This record gives sequence, C-alpha cells and structure tokens, in this order.
Amino acid sequence: RDILFASSEVAPFSKTGGLADVAASLPKALTGLGHRVSIITPLYSHLDPDELHLSRRIKPLSVPRLGKYRNKVEATVWEGRTEGGVRIFFVEQDDFFGQEGNLYGYEDNDYEDNPARFSFFSRAIIEFALQFSVPVDVIHCNDWHTALAPIYRDHYYSEELADVGVVLTIHNLAFQGSFDAEALSQTGLPKKFYKAGELRQDDGINFLQGGIVHADQVTTVSPTYAEEIQSAEGGFGLEEILSGNADKLSGVLNGADYTVWSPDIDHYIEVQYDLERLNGKRRNKAELQHRFELPIRPTLPMLAFVGRLTEQKGLDLLVPAVEKLVDSFEDDRDGFQMLFLGEGHNSYADKVKALAEKFPKRIAAHIGYSEELAHKIQAGADLLVIPSRYEPCGLTQLYAMKYGTLPIVHATGGLADTVVDPKGDEEELSTGFIFEDYDEDALSETITRATKRYRNYRKWRPLVENAMKQDFSWGSSARQYIDIYNNALNRGQE
Ligand code: ADP
Ligand code: GLC
Repeated sequence: RDILFASSEVAPFSKTGGLADVAASLPKALTGLGHRVSIITPLYSHLDPDELHLSRRIKPLSVPRLGKYRNKVEATVWEGRTEGGVRIFFVEQDDFFGQEGNLYGYEDNDYEDNPARFSFFSRAIIEFALQFSVPVDVIHCNDWHTALAPIYRDHYYSEELADVGVVLTIHNLAFQGSFDAEALSQTGLPKKFYKAGELRQDDGINFLQGGIVHADQVTTVSPTYAEEIQSAEGGFGLEEILSGNADKLSGVLNGADYTVWSPDIDHYIEVQYDLERLNGKRRNKAELQHRFELPIRPTLPMLAFVGRLTEQKGLDLLVPAVEKLVDSFEDDRDGFQMLFLGEGHNSYADKVKALAEKFPKRIAAHIGYSEELAHKIQAGADLLVIPSRYEPCGLTQLYAMKYGTLPIVHATGGLADTVVDPKGDEEELSTGFIFEDYDEDALSETITRATKRYRNYRKWRPLVENAMKQDFSWGSSARQYIDIYNNALNRGQE
C-alpha cells in the first residue's frame, strides 16, 4: 500500500507529546512490513531545511481558497528522510507556520489563527496527494489538525480522489479544534457545513467532529479508550457522534520504538544496562541524584513524573498526595525521593516548583522540555507515576517497563490496557501498580504499596523482570492498521 501519513508533529523534528513519537514510529513499522509510507508535516520556524539536509521540490504546492486568501496560496515542499528511513515532506508557508512561539501557541495561549493554520495544513495534504507524483492509496490523518482533510476530499475532489481512503486517528479527545462559528470562514468551506451540522457543535464549529463524520475509518490509540470515548464521561461532547459511528471506529494500541527507548542501546543514559546487567540501573540512579542535587541514597526508592503539565495528567492528585506523604516521613532513610520533568501550564509548574522548594532533599524538578532528561529519568528512577485523569494510550508507561521502572497508573484508557498489578489474580504476570478510583487517597495508598514492595527485593525483582520482558513493539498494531486501511479503501464496495 501507498500511505500518506499526516501529522502536525513528528519526532524528533517537532514534538509536544506522544503524537510525535507515533508519527515517527508507526510509519517506520509500516515500512518494515513492506508498505510505502510518506509523512507530511508543517515546516515550523525552528526547523532549518539546511541543517536537516532537506531538498527543495522545484514545484510549489498550490493551496486554493482559504480564509483571507481568496484565490490560492503557494507553499514550498521540502523532502527528506526520518531517522527510521521514512520519506518525509515538510510544507513551508510562513504565514501559517512561521511563528516564533511553540507549535500551537505562545506560552499559555493558543494562536488565534489556529483554525486557518490547520485548515491550510489539512487542505495542503489533499492538494499534495493530487499535485505531487507520490502515489497515495490511503491518507492517514491524526487529530484535529488534519481532520478537515476528509471533508476537503469529499467536498472538492469526490471524483479525483474517489479511490483514496482516509483514516483518522484520535490521539486525544480533549483537543478537538473547536472554535467560534466565525472560524468557518477560515476553513474556506461553504456555510452548508455549519447548517447541515457536520462541523457544527452548539454555536461553534468542531474540526474533529467533521473529520469523524467524513473519514472512512476512525481509530483511537487503545481498545479501552475506544470504549470510554463513546460514553458521556470520556467523550468530551462527541460521545454521540462516536457511538453513532461505532461501525467504523476501532482502538489500536500504540507501540513503542525500542530502537529509541531501550536501556541497552540508549545513548542519552550514563550506563547502558539490561536484565543481566541491572547494576547499570543503579548507577543511572546515582547519577540522577547527583545531577538533581538530591542525597545519593541507593536504597531509597526514586519516583518520577514525566509528562505535560496539564489537567489530563493528574497533577491535582499527585502534588498534594506527594506533599502529604513526604511530610509524614520520619527520618532520612524513610520514604522516597521524587523527580518531576514537565512543561505546560504555569499553574501546575508553580505547584511542582513549590513542592521541590519545600522538600529540597526529597524532591527536584526540571520545568521544561528535555529529551535527554526524559531518557535519563526512565533509566534512573524505580517507579514512574502516571496518575492521569484519562489517558488515550500513554507511551511513558511502555518506555518505563522496558527500563525496569515500574509504572504506577490510574486504571484508565491505555494505562489499563498495558499494566498488570500484582494485587489481582495475575501476580506472576504483574508489571506495575494500578489504582482504580481517581482520588488522592487511592493514589497515596498505591504509592505506599509500591514503595513497600520495593523494599523487599525478592518480591520486587520478578516485577522488574516481567516489565522488562514486555514487548509493546509496533508489529501487531501496524498489522491492524493495514486491515483498517483496507477497510477504508473498500468503503465504496460494501
Ligand atoms: P501525551 O501524548 O499525552 O503527552 P504520551 O505518554 O503518549 O503522552 O507521550 C508523551 C511523550 O512526550 C513521551 O515521549 C515523553 O517522554 C515525552 N515528554 C513529555 N513531557 C516531556 C518533557 N517535559 N521533556 C521531555 N519529554 C517529554
Ligand atoms: C495523546 C495521548 C496519549 C497518547 C498519544 C499518542 O497525546 O494523550 O495518551 O499516547 O497521544 O497516541
């Protein structure tokens, strides 16, 4: 198959979260199965074509009728390869992607012209499939940033692209691209899309909703999340659209790229290790304690949090729970240490910083984005805490297991699908710790249960072994996507 994989972020070029990891690793896995994949993504201002050794396509990409541009706007297309050897095309158009801030906004504020920026990108994907001599059977869109692509296909090119299937993957239903009704003019689409309700949600428009209606197949990133989003609790207002389209909706678990995330080959970490050389893990821990200026205590469990500092990630439970637990420790040899690595909303960042200031010998934080520290923490910590309120899939728990760092997770979405707790019937298969109810006590009790177990090496070691032996590589999930692509292509023939 020829697949055009469209994503607003692709690691390591641009990344705010797991979408970037998936956009790099899934195309690579599909290529490994013998399919031809091209990735298409914006060229943001921090990306330099020379540094990335990109070659410029002589022909510009012409994108018609959008927002303030009555006729057409031209974009430059740059071609390169990802680290995994997959062909990648960057779309350069500075009016939309030339901002100096981050990918979607500046500090805590989204860019006002996001509807225009990602209408443009969605339309560019479709135009690319038409104008460039890159064969395309299936366009694989990801999240709201690309969700208008199937609408543009259906509305403008229903004949030209009749044989091209579109799959839309939802990575996170909290981000839907919902805007005021006026934003419709930025999409270039006619008013009927508002009137007929395809894009309309209450008094505004919703890109993701439109994409769900028009895509041939819709997927999300874990089987449990695929169920959760069809209910009022997890659907963020789109539950009815999703359950109404259940026949084309499926949940495919994300995979991990173990060429990037494996302690035996990780170049970011101090000492590489594997199950037979677990001593290496201890040295990584000492190095972390040193770097974060915490007392070097090999026997004290080291907890960690790595993630975006947003409402989703459960910091409203984690910060107070940790504060109370640490307050209750009687002496230096008691309890645990904890590291935070995260970037996001200032309100959460301030709380994390305050916690680290209150307990300088116990807790340390790096507020910001650091790929290097993310790897070092996976390697040096003993427990990775992921108390997410909801989690479509979650990748950090998959990485943690490979590094022998046991995850403590809330039983939701992909976390529930990937971690096994010794409390259940499957003691001999267990790989981490799960709490069911989203509340502070449940989290505290589980942290305490996990750190107690850490102190009993005979009971700890088998869990580490199980975790490190888990295989969440892309193989079977990539094969599921191929089936979904086939279903998308067969849409007219049912
Ligand atoms: P989400 O996509 O919701 O952010 P995932 O668990 O799927 O959650 O993916 C998060 C990815 O982003 C992981 O690769 C994780 O290591 C990385 N990450 C998150 N925050 C940071 C940070 N501050 N510095 C470095 N990497 C981070
Ligand atoms: C999202 C989700 C996360 C998922 C990632 C990649 O950002 O929050 O759970 O792992 O996308 O699919």
